[in-house]
Amino acid sequence: MTDDGLERHGDDSYDATSRIVDPGGDADERRVEAALRPRRLAEFPGQPRVSDQLALVLEAARRRGAPPDHVLLSGPPGLGKTSLAMIIAAELEQPIRITSGPAIQHAGDLAAILSSLAEGEVLFLDEIHRMARPAEEMLYLAMEDFRVDVVVGKGPGATAIPLELPPFTVVGATTRAGLLPAPLRDRFGFTGHLDYYTAEDLSAILTRNADLLGVDATRQGIDEIAGRSRGTPRIANRLLRRVRDYAQVHGKGVVDHAAARAALELFDVDARGLDRLDRGVLEALCKRFGGGPVGLSTLAVAVGEEPDTVETVAEPYLVREGYMIRTPRGRAAAPGAWEHLGLTPPDGPGTSATPLPFDEGEGRFAL
Ligand SMILES: Nc1ncnc2c1ncn2[C@@H]1O[C@H](COP(=O)(O)OP(=O)(O)OP(=O)(O)O)[C@@H](O)[C@H]1O
Ligand SMILES: [Mg+2]
Repeated sequence: MTDDGLERHGDDSYDATSRIVDPGGDADERRVEAALRPRRLAEFPGQPRVSDQLALVLEAARRRGAPPDHVLLSGPPGLGKTSLAMIIAAELEQPIRITSGPAIQHAGDLAAILSSLAEGEVLFLDEIHRMARPAEEMLYLAMEDFRVDVVVGKGPGATAIPLELPPFTVVGATTRAGLLPAPLRDRFGFTGHLDYYTAEDLSAILTRNADLLGVDATRQGIDEIAGRSRGTPRIANRLLRRVRDYAQVHGKGVVDHAAARAALELFDVDARGLDRLDRGVLEALCKRFGGGPVGLSTLAVAVGEEPDTVETVAEPYLVREGYMIRTPRGRAAAPGAWEHLGLTPPDGPGTSATPLPFDEGEGRFAL
């Protein structure tokens, strides 16, 4: 965590889900996240498809007595990619080496890691789409042939010495599978796409976590939080802690329906679970751009966010829930957006665009 409360990842990227609901930051956030992480596949609620597929891949590998194929986990932030990577290592009873794409800026960084792997070890590469190109090439050769070429010396006299590696398993995680070059993507024998959780699954997760955190919660309180967590366990866990805070300060210390509603309102989470960024995007789309279509970067400027944040954090959920559509000409409001904002859609595209003043100080359009 930094002064501004954002989780920086070495290279200035940040965990956008953390800023939406928790702008003040939470010092023990990571510790709590780690404590709440399910440890085994059987304890991992939700994602039945990925979970079953993974169970099969791991069991088959165990029976063969060999490391499984490389695994790629893709999906929006906070759905459990890191948790699953740890679970894979735990199920295989192997150590896990953790690094991330942005940390590997040179092929040499990767060579050092690869050449120190033990047989069967799991190498977790988070944000794998952000790895430097030469490292990417080295990685897919290593994944296929279990070999790296270590370059010794510099300039014309440099020679590449091939180094054999013991078999190991790469687990890659990405929020942007589309950005992975095809040769790298093809080296993964199994790709698990994580999707948003159902409210029932989130309720189950929250019930377990309330127990683990020693929080007294009612069924209605839990369900209210689950229904407003954008299908995302990380958001559900965070909201649970905010509702607990609220209940401690204003209530009887019990996470019940009333506490959940009041706390969620305080933290700008609306009845459908949309947060400030989501609503900002929808309002910009409908009010500023008459429903679109509008280019991603223009839309991002309108809400004062990075295009990447709008695309990876807000958009997937808004598209899935029928608030927004992606068209070849840009993003457009779906009927759900107009309805949610209580607005009447225009007859034709673009007809109701009311120009809004651009606030230079804020660097965004006044909405
Ligand atoms: N199926 C689940 N059951 C219980 N808790 C979960 C589940 N999935 C995720 N969580 C919780 O949500 C939090 C975020 O999960 P995790 O870090 O694995 O997400 P991620 O997909 O790696 O996110 P990011 O893309 O931001 O790295 C963790 O604290 C974890 O405990
Ligand atoms: Mg992660």
